[in-house]
Amino acid sequence: MQIKMVDLHRQYLSIKTEIDEAIQSVLTGTDFIMGSAVCEFEADLATYLGAGHAVGCASGTDALQVAMMALGISRGDEVITSPFTFVATAETIALLGASPVYVDIDAKTYNLDVQQIAARITSRTKAIIPVHLYGQPADLAPLLTLAAERGLKVIEDTAQAIGARCHSGGTLPHGDGAWIEEKVSTRNPGREQPPRHAAGRGAQGQAAASGSLDRGTHSHCASL
Ligand SMILES: Cc1ncc(COP(=O)(O)O)c(C=O)c1O
Repeated sequence: MQIKMVDLHRQYLSIKTEIDEAIQSVLTGTDFIMGSAVCEFEADLATYLGAGHAVGCASGTDALQVAMMALGISRGDEVITSPFTFVATAETIALLGASPVYVDIDAKTYNLDVQQIAARITSRTKAIIPVHLYGQPADLAPLLTLAAERGLKVIEDTAQAIGARCHSGGTLPHGDGAWIEEKVSTRNPGREQPPRHAAGRGAQGQAAASGSLDRGTHSHCASL
């Protein structure tokens, strides 16, 4: 018997009527861009996360970039992050002209090893981006303390861990900005997926696929 890691089709069927009605009502109202469904989603998500605000974005890559832009990260700055993540985490740092500085991961959690961060902080360091991978939060309490002591911003890449709880209590996020992306939860691993990479889709396809021409190769940063 094959047990799917995520069975999205089954999940969909269990709330099919609700989902179909919600999508149909957006279509009927032609309320596509920043419409009432988006506003409602943002308000509900903020409540769920216990956050002051939630801002909807077109993609996780956009959201990471927007969060860094909002914090003024730009050319010449350094941002500390994990090398064990999807390419977009470092890509968006580079897109803003800043430099990603990698700190190794903890062998047990696969998330940033907080003990190794201090040694990589320089006068150019502006922020730290911990990635909460596979639903498991990075070790946030010591990371937030270190960031506060050194005057650094913390932007959490919460693509894979929305609503996860930290040891210290409370749902993610905790830092200065966080983003989530829904695509992770809308992919059905049981089905043949259209490729994320851009083989045969030209420069625009490559840009939309985080600079990827074939699986696992990201030759340059995408442009948003
Ligand atoms: C950890 C992580 N960060 C960033 C992203 C980028 O999100 P998107 O593909 O929506 O731009 C992903 C996507 O899978 C991810 O898993």
